[in-house]
Amino acid sequence: MKILSGMQPSGTLHLGNYLGALRQWVEVQSADAHYCVVDLHALTLQISPEMLRKNTTDLLATYLAAGLDPEVCTIFIQSQVPYHAQLNWLLECVATYGELSRMVAFKEKSARQEGYRVGLLTYPVLMAADILLYDTEEVPVGDDQRQHLELTRDIAERFNNRFGDTFTVPLGVQPKVSARVMDLQEPTRKMSKSISSPLGTIYLFDSPSDIKRKISKAVTDTDGDVRYDWETKPGISNLLEIYASFAKETPDAIASRYTRYGDLKTDLANLMVENLSPLRESYDRLIQSPAELHAVAERGAEKAREQAGAVYRRAAQAMGL
Ligand code: TYM
Repeated sequence: MKILSGMQPSGTLHLGNYLGALRQWVEVQSADAHYCVVDLHALTLQISPEMLRKNTTDLLATYLAAGLDPEVCTIFIQSQVPYHAQLNWLLECVATYGELSRMVAFKEKSARQEGYRVGLLTYPVLMAADILLYDTEEVPVGDDQRQHLELTRDIAERFNNRFGDTFTVPLGVQPKVSARVMDLQEPTRKMSKSISSPLGTIYLFDSPSDIKRKISKAVTDTDGDVRYDWETKPGISNLLEIYASFAKETPDAIASRYTRYGDLKTDLANLMVENLSPLRESYDRLIQSPAELHAVAERGAEKAREQAGAVYRRAAQAMGL
């Protein structure tokens, strides 16, 4: 199965990034899997060059710490494979302004910024280029990327209809639970890097005491019944999904073992600390050797350029270039 996915180097990952995406990537990694650090996408954020560089190295370390193995899959930095930006332009001449301006992520982000840049609008076209360059069949992502995946499919199909069969039409895949991890303080809003409440977001490398504190303070409700029900109990349902994701059980099975919120929270916090501590230790070790991390990424980019170049040439020729 040909797979591609990526993450923005926008700072320490949170639990949603891990359970919604990165952990799935580790499970499905193979010689046909490509995972990139999408530094070009991060240019749409307001971050300094120094931060972007630091975040890029951090994210490489995080990928490896989570269990991606460069001997098994291809790990690379998007900007080191110029075909992404090149195919982006070809696809911008296929995508429409109307469909891009209907993207929920664009509408939300542009509403929060004065004088937002064009890149915020065309962001999903670059994402389509990332995916289509590798003849990707499946894209493991969290629920918030669904609409971008639909757009990628539309662009690929339109291109194929107009210019002949060129691209594989990919499918987005979400994990069964935790495809949308919610903010612990506002469980009707997704956990997010951009708008986060200090207690609402668990970062992958939070200390055990921070994890315990954030879980114990997570917003629940007053009826006291441990039940998996998003409609009436979003706080508890969110905790049950996080638990289910780590324990590899169903939320209902876990709910059936508890009668008190406090016990559920204590066990969940312990389970998280147990699962995340080894990741944190690996990250601390890997980040000591940035040159090695970048050597891994350069080897990955070399492999990626070969694959992406072939698909780019196919697309360019089909369009008459
Ligand atoms: P990004 O960097 O915002 O997020 C990385 C991944 O984390 C998932 N995610 C979540 N999953 C569950 N619950 C949450 N609260 C949560 N928050 C984030 C996201 O769904 C994503 O899978 N546009 C992409 C990056 C991208 C990309 C690509 C992805 C660029 N090119 C090609 C796949 C294929 C993004 O901004 O993800």
